[in-house]
Amino acid sequence: ADSLRTLAAGVGLRIGTAVNMDELNVDTTYTGIVAGQFNTVTAENVMKWDAIEPSQGTHNYGPADQLVAFAKAHGQLVRGHTLLWHNQIPSWLTTGVTNGTIDNAALRDILHRHITDEVSHFRGKIWQWDVANEFFTDSNPSTINPNDFWISHLGAGVIADAFRWAHAADPHALLFYNDYNIAGEDGSNAKSDAVYAWVRQLRSQGVPIDGIGNQGHLDTQYGFPTLLTQDLQRYANLGLKVAITEADVRTFIETTDANQTPTDNLATFAQPYEYSQMLKACLAVRACISFTVWGAGDAGSWVPGTFMGEGYADIYDVNLKPKAAYTALQQDLTLA
Ligand code: G3I
Repeated sequence: ADSLRTLAAGVGLRIGTAVNMDELNVDTTYTGIVAGQFNTVTAENVMKWDAIEPSQGTHNYGPADQLVAFAKAHGQLVRGHTLLWHNQIPSWLTTGVTNGTIDNAALRDILHRHITDEVSHFRGKIWQWDVANEFFTDSNPSTINPNDFWISHLGAGVIADAFRWAHAADPHALLFYNDYNIAGEDGSNAKSDAVYAWVRQLRSQGVPIDGIGNQGHLDTQYGFPTLLTQDLQRYANLGLKVAITEADVRTFIETTDANQTPTDNLATFAQPYEYSQMLKACLAVRACISFTVWGAGDAGSWVPGTFMGEGYADIYDVNLKPKAAYTALQQDLTLA
């Protein structure tokens, strides 16, 4: 059967993966999968601020440049991830804020410079930037999180400024807001409603935002978010592109088992089903321009380190053998 990227190209979709730069060009099986199966890539970690500016004023673009070069060599478009987030901020910055050597005015200048420098560095080489990431929470979903590091220091308007600064540095990159659980949740859809209302307001104010990234970190124990297509279409109706940016579907495993052996048949049935439904939602919405899985094999997944007793979330197993979820995506693309 054809590769995912060949099949996706046939239906005008970009299919991607988050790339771990500790493995790319090191593990040949992994490298072959990244090159052979995907036609867009996202930096899993190496474009985040702590990786790019480990000490103030000293930049380390090396690993990210390597990824961009790899992508160019393999006909892949790059998603830049991510410029403004509460996580993986350099420690010199958080320390400076805590000890008072960086006041709010200085913090704003430092952020402005960071976005300008990084977006300028990659100008012309990034297809989609995740400009801002995860400003809404599940616990207080109806509003931008007032306790977020950036919001508490600089106010909610800083997100719109981040989009303006990024646009000034690279007017051709598509600028995205990226978050999880912002499309499809039935029952209370409060987080999706809040993001929708907020982004509609940004658009009406002329803020240069082009797209919404729905991460797509699912868990078999909660079932599939059945309103996904409808909510993606709702964003699209505002004139936005949409993308699935970090798809994975975690399930219960034997804790501390390096093979991530599933403990129930949700892995067999629910996992490929949920991957398939996510892809079908993207295929059903014309404005959905890319579908990215968050990593290739289970061995590299962030899930077991974050959710005790859960894993087996990716489309390849710990030995980089394709799972039923891979075959499901392949079949969906074949029939699309
Ligand atoms: O770089 C250090 C290394 O020097 C150190 O020795 C090692 C020891 O723990 O840690 C390394 O940093 C790790 C980093 O990944 C790079 O490998 C961090 O501990 C680890 O926490 C970090 O995890 C990443 C996580 O974001 C942190 O926020 C995951 O790989 C990455 O998959 C995950 O991705 C996020 C998206 O960016 C946003 N959406 C959610 C998604 C999953 O959490």
